[in-house]
Amino acid sequence: MRVTVIAVAGFAAWFSMGQAAAADGKGVYEKACAGCHSAMSPKVTGEKAKWDVLLKAGKPALTASVIKGKGAMPPKGGAASDADAKAAVDYMVTLIK
Ligand code: HEC
Repeated sequence: MRVTVIAVAGFAAWFSMGQAAAADGKGVYEKACAGCHSAMSPKVTGEKAKWDVLLKAGKPALTASVIKGKGAMPPKGGAASDADAKAAVDYMVTLIK
């Protein structure tokens, strides 16, 4: 019984991950990026000055460095595809304050 419940939950999680493949910036951000960027610098909240400096390079440059990975951030920031990473950056910059 217990095993069945775990198996079903696992399948549901796997299935919903597949669904996120259609670049859904908010979904990707919440799944792949928020864990780090709500706790680790550059944080989306409270570090606007840092972002102002970063955003001077332009969003395409930031997107490129996310796709490549930077410092402690894994390639694509852990997102499934370049398109997902880009959508997540687009969404993320709307959150900065
Ligand atoms: C394991 C933690 C971690 C995850 C997951 C993560 N990041 Fe990062 N991110 C970092 C760290 C640490 C830096 C700072 C890197 C540095 O400057 O050395 C960073 C930097 C950035 C930057 C600035 C890049 C630059 O050129 O300086 C952007 C934009 C960014 N992350 C977006 C994202 C997005 C979008 C995602 C999800 C798709 C994501 N991150 C996932 C830790 C993470």
